[in-house]
Amino acid sequence: MTALQLVLNTLPQLTRANVALRSTEELGFTLASQEAEDVSLLNTASQAWQSLELKSISHTYHREGENSDFVLGPIDLSFKPGELVFITGGNGSGKTTLIKLLTGLYTSERGHISLDGRQIDAFSREHYRQYFSVVFSDFYLFEQMLGLIGSDLDEQARAYLSQLKLSHKVDIANGRLSTIELSQGQRKRLALLTAYLENRPIYIFDEWAADQDPYFKGVFYLQLLPELKARGKTIFVISHDDRYYQVADRIIKLDDGQVVSDTRNTMEQAALGTAN
Ligand SMILES: Nc1ncnc2c1ncn2[C@@H]1O[C@H](COP(=O)(O)OP(=O)(O)OP(=O)(O)O)[C@@H](O)[C@H]1O
Ligand SMILES: [Mg+2]
Repeated sequence: MTALQLVLNTLPQLTRANVALRSTEELGFTLASQEAEDVSLLNTASQAWQSLELKSISHTYHREGENSDFVLGPIDLSFKPGELVFITGGNGSGKTTLIKLLTGLYTSERGHISLDGRQIDAFSREHYRQYFSVVFSDFYLFEQMLGLIGSDLDEQARAYLSQLKLSHKVDIANGRLSTIELSQGQRKRLALLTAYLENRPIYIFDEWAADQDPYFKGVFYLQLLPELKARGKTIFVISHDDRYYQVADRIIKLDDGQVVSDTRNTMEQAALGTAN
């Protein structure tokens, strides 16, 4: 009776789980059809850009039951193509929020973003988002490569899988990964694979290297990032790995929602950075 009772008690939870699973799957399908359109949007447009400007952008999180809100900004920054920018700062300083604004996932309360002098508005936002490939720290992996097209997709993916030291674990056929049941660090590498295949002009990695072993951290900062830069990509890296700060062209530091420093990396500063 006890065992039976246990099974009966679990049934509602299973039903709920089933519904949630189905919704997730449906989400996958809608994303697939949605992204296919978006990708063609960017393919028809030129991927080249000259200037990206954030003008007095800000975001406020209203915290229920607390007196103080978290306010990011107002922030003014401008970027050029091909820059390798590190965004640093303590936990809760607003790094992730800044990139959500930068990528157009959050709309700024005030100010605006301009790409090549054109202000991003409700009409151009979806197109603007297609310039970015982002791996957030709370990323989600799909087995099916969504929204990617190309006859040599599998082949390209295999080359990247080997570069990411995953070929012995994962294979790809018809744009579908053989497995995503991997360790956290390996799953993050798969997220990077997707970003690579998307091949957008601007890459953003939110603490990507945090779960990587020391060896692969080195591969990421000293090999993968310079390679992406050599391919002409603009890269934003949110990072706490100060021993690799010398790789950056530019380091932007946030504190409590404000930009407290924005420095070009020179050799001297690099030496200081590693000494700290
Ligand atoms: N969804 C949210 N709702 C309310 N407040 C939030 C939300 N997300 C973040 N915050 C608050 O905004 C502040 C900045 O968060 P954010 O995630 O941008 O920081 P971060 O610099 O990326 O930190 P970490 O290094 O821990 O990733 C934090 O104080 C956090 O409490
Ligand atoms: Mg963050």
